[in-house]
Amino acid sequence: MAASVSDLPKSGKRSNAAPPLEPLACGTDDVCIWRVHLDRDDATVAACAAFLSGDELQRAKRLRSAIDRNRYFVARGSLRQLLADWLGTRPSAIEFEYGPRGKPFLRGATPPQFNLSHAGGTALIAISSRRPVGVDIESLNRNLDFAALAGRFFSAAERAALSALPADLQKHAFLTGWTRKESILKATGDGLSLPLDQFEVSLDVDAPARVLSTTLDRIAKCALHELRIDGGFVASLATYDHDPG
Ligand SMILES: CC(C)(COP(=O)(O)OP(=O)(O)OC[C@H]1O[C@@H](n2cnc3c(N)ncnc32)[C@H](O)[C@@H]1OP(=O)(O)O)[C@@H](O)C(=O)NCCC(=O)NCCS
Repeated sequence: MAASVSDLPKSGKRSNAAPPLEPLACGTDDVCIWRVHLDRDDATVAACAAFLSGDELQRAKRLRSAIDRNRYFVARGSLRQLLADWLGTRPSAIEFEYGPRGKPFLRGATPPQFNLSHAGGTALIAISSRRPVGVDIESLNRNLDFAALAGRFFSAAERAALSALPADLQKHAFLTGWTRKESILKATGDGLSLPLDQFEVSLDVDAPARVLSTTLDRIAKCALHELRIDGGFVASLATYDHDPG
């Protein structure tokens, strides 16, 4: 019988040691969040791929690298498994719909709210019964020109806050700010269609995760929550307190 994601041991007896679906602590009790290790054995990849819908399989086909394809199968398969457990159904019975900017969601009277983010071989999945969520994860090992990116995407005050930090802390602070901003835009579903300098967030890794200023009503309804992740990553979780009525 093929393995399913939920069959996989959650304590590290596997040769790759890390548990596949690792619950993480976050600073709010109405959101559950898991770290997913995407580089898995062939049986697990096949079990995950078997959950996917026709359009997801088509999308996987368009990914050129086999590594990316397998990671996509495991990320989507794990998302389906977690949502199915939440709803008491089968992973293949989950029917995703997509917002105008591509955010996946479920229809229903009170559907669980969820979001997913990946960076290399790691993904994060957040699920909430109550309010829309956004997650973002980035690798600290990425080779990037963070000063140029801050110049292009951050506000003047954020750029000043970044350059006031010691040089060896700036890249971490940039990625902290970037993930905080992206998680907010993923909670609202805007994605990167909304300019990142339309609102300001705290950048300091050790400062509370906060929206510092915005003129946009929907961003003002978002909150950032503490989310610590080890292994060379930085990540953020945001919730969106909007009235769906
Ligand atoms: C969504 C977006 C912020 C993703 O950022 P990223 O750092 O590249 O990727 P991440 O790994 O963090 O997130 C990707 C996941 O977010 C989810 N997602 C996609 N669009 C989303 C959106 N608008 N809001 C929230 N979540 C979204 C999906 O689950 C996706 O995973 P998938 O590959 O399994 O489908 C970015 O790609 C974006 O802004 N896209 C907007 C595209 C757009 O405006 N399209 C308009 C016409 S369709």
